[in-house]
Amino acid sequence: MIRLLVCVGPRCDAEGRGRALLADAQAALGEAFPQALADGRLKISTRDCLRHCTRDPVVRLEPSGEAFAGPDRETLLREIGAALGE
Ligand code: FES
Repeated sequence: MIRLLVCVGPRCDAEGRGRALLADAQAALGEAFPQALADGRLKISTRDCLRHCTRDPVVRLEPSGEAFAGPDRETLLREIGAALGE
């Protein structure tokens, strides 16, 4: 199972950008990987700090542990598609 953790902590979401990234990721992944989300191979969760605080909101993929600061939609889709083997 692949889990995308989206940080909505005090730094990442200081200007609402963490929650904006969460909403964008939910929409993009819902379009691209509906079956993986439906059958639980892909999950999206939030965290209050991923200890990678930067100027951009941070996400982390599990189990790989790869972290991305302010990833664009293409990066998210590519990385998660690769992790799912799709
Ligand atoms: S507040 Fe998001 S990584 Fe620390």
